Amino acid sequence: MPSLKSGLMSLSTCALLLLQLVATEARIPLNPQHVKLRARSQAAPAVAKRQGTTFPVHTFTQPLDHFVDTGFTFEQRYWLNDRHYKPGGPVIVFEAGEGPGDERMPILDTGIVDILANATNGLGIVLEHRYYGESVPVQNFTTDSLRWLNNEQAAADSANFIDNVTFPTIPGDLTAPGTAWIYYGGSYGGARAAHMRGLYPHLVFGAISSSGVVHATLDDWRYFDIIRQYAPAHCIAQVEKTIFEVDRLITSPSAKTRKAIKAVFGLQNLTYDPDFASLLSDPLSAWQDNNWDPAVGSTAFAQFCDALGPPDHATVHTEQGITVSNATFNYAKYIKSQYVASCTPPQTQDECFGTITAKDFYLQTDLSQTWRLWSFQVCTQWGFFMAYPPGHFFKVPAEPNITAVNSLGGYNIAYDRLAIIDGQWDPWRGDTPHSPDPAAHPRPDTIIRPFKLIFQGVHHYDENGLADHSKEPPQIRAIHEQEVEFVKAWLKDFKPPCKP
Ligand SMILES: *[C@@H]1O[C@H](CO)[C@@H](O)[C@H](O)[C@H]1NC(C)=O
Ligand SMILES: *[C@@H]1O[C@H](CO)[C@@H](O)[C@H](O)[C@H]1NC(C)=O
Ligand SMILES: *[C@@H]1O[C@H](CO)[C@@H](O)[C@H](O)[C@H]1NC(C)=O
Ligand SMILES: *[C@@H]1O[C@H](CO)[C@@H](O)[C@H](O)[C@H]1NC(C)=O
Ligand SMILES: *[C@@H]1O[C@H](CO)[C@@H](O)[C@H](O)[C@H]1NC(C)=O
Ligand SMILES: *[C@@H]1O[C@H](CO)[C@@H](O)[C@H](O)[C@H]1NC(C)=O
Repeated sequence: MPSLKSGLMSLSTCALLLLQLVATEARIPLNPQHVKLRARSQAAPAVAKRQGTTFPVHTFTQPLDHFVDTGFTFEQRYWLNDRHYKPGGPVIVFEAGEGPGDERMPILDTGIVDILANATNGLGIVLEHRYYGESVPVQNFTTDSLRWLNNEQAAADSANFIDNVTFPTIPGDLTAPGTAWIYYGGSYGGARAAHMRGLYPHLVFGAISSSGVVHATLDDWRYFDIIRQYAPAHCIAQVEKTIFEVDRLITSPSAKTRKAIKAVFGLQNLTYDPDFASLLSDPLSAWQDNNWDPAVGSTAFAQFCDALGPPDHATVHTEQGITVSNATFNYAKYIKSQYVASCTPPQTQDECFGTITAKDFYLQTDLSQTWRLWSFQVCTQWGFFMAYPPGHFFKVPAEPNITAVNSLGGYNIAYDRLAIIDGQWDPWRGDTPHSPDPAAHPRPDTIIRPFKLIFQGVHHYDENGLADHSKEPPQIRAIHEQEVEFVKAWLKDFKPPCKP
């Protein structure tokens, strides 16, 4: 029986889809239709992005396929911050992950890349991931054209870059292993950073995996469980009350009741109950958009909680003829105003919110359908999603094959000079053992071995920084300082190989 809870489950199987990009509004939601909706009605007022310095873009030629010679190549974009660089310094490369690299400039300018480069006389780089931004090797995003979008090709791109790049503005050979390369990534990029350290240890001297999703999973119930544990208790009480009530009513033997509860949410025209449940779970995904810096994060989750109000024992007799708790009534009002209201004729509710009915939308394959990219990765290697009819050369498996990802270590991934950084409240944190006291972090001189640091934060909270670091919250300054300390400690061990 579809229910809100099973909807939450099926959403959580897709929760990897919600992997956030640095720019909040660029988060890829479960239903691409929501992208359109969000563009029109941002739940949170879009906070003005700070204008950072601009960095010139450079490109590096990559083969379309690293393992079979197709004769085709593409240009991979990257950006350099050389303001701190001194010969002999390391290269700090930021993996841009599942989004356009140019959106990562603040990290190069005032975030972790600049902080580490400043501390080590290093060269900062943002490296765009194949298929994202303008590093696009294909003419369209059909299933066949997406067959070179996978972890193995992406890892080989980075290895080739580190092994062979020459920088137009910097003399000398800065490739590995002659220069120490430190690979940093957050979220999917965090998993990539950890994997790069394991797969190419001779090229990647050290890596920092921030909120890295190193464990691929088909049913990621942990995502919502972390929100349940760490979001404000009064808000979660209201959410749980609504889930139990909607579950009960949507599975009622009475067709009239089942219809009525959807109508209370203004969704009487949404044909399929899983689409209904999926939409109701969407406000929860705003939790990961929290950031300590209001210019980076969104306040949508707090607004959602405000709308649910404090727990009470009140009930409301609805015009649909059923009695619901005040919690459900308030939740319904929020869904109506933030989602349903922006779905207007000629669009039907199935067109706006249906994943099952909006087939035509999912079959679009031109280069503007960038939602296809991360979804494809989820469907093939990371977690469940269906929008890819079989091609001639490639067929998306019925279930993603998560074996390859998890064979690299999963939750237990550990290498020398691989730092795992996790926010205690991050829904992507997965199986991280119970959080140690954030004040009890290991001292820098004891953390040269593989280690995990957990600090008070949500999703890759350590990535961004302020131009004036002294204005950052104490726990952010502390994690930045720790990263500086352990990277410096790593670099003390660096010995370039003798030239033959
Ligand atoms: C750069 O590092 C120096 C110390 O090495 C520090 O005083 C300064 O605040 C840092 N600047 C930035 C922008 O991080
Ligand atoms: C997609 O691109 C490939 C290769 O450029 C081409 O052969 C194919 O016809 C295109 N398909 C669509 C649907 O545009
Ligand atoms: C670097 O380039 C050489 C020459 O094209 C190639 O053989 C090698 O595989 C590249 N390195 C990596 C790690 O791809
Ligand atoms: C629901 O569908 C009916 C019949 O097609 C239509 O008259 C009505 O406007 C729709 N309501 C909403 C809220 O979409
Ligand atoms: C129901 O919740 C709303 C929003 O918090 C609140 O304003 C209202 O007073 C509540 N109703 C009752 C009867 O408690
Ligand atoms: C999944 O991937 C692993 C490792 O790449 C491979 O050995 C296995 O055969 C694959 N399984 C299926 C069902 O394709």
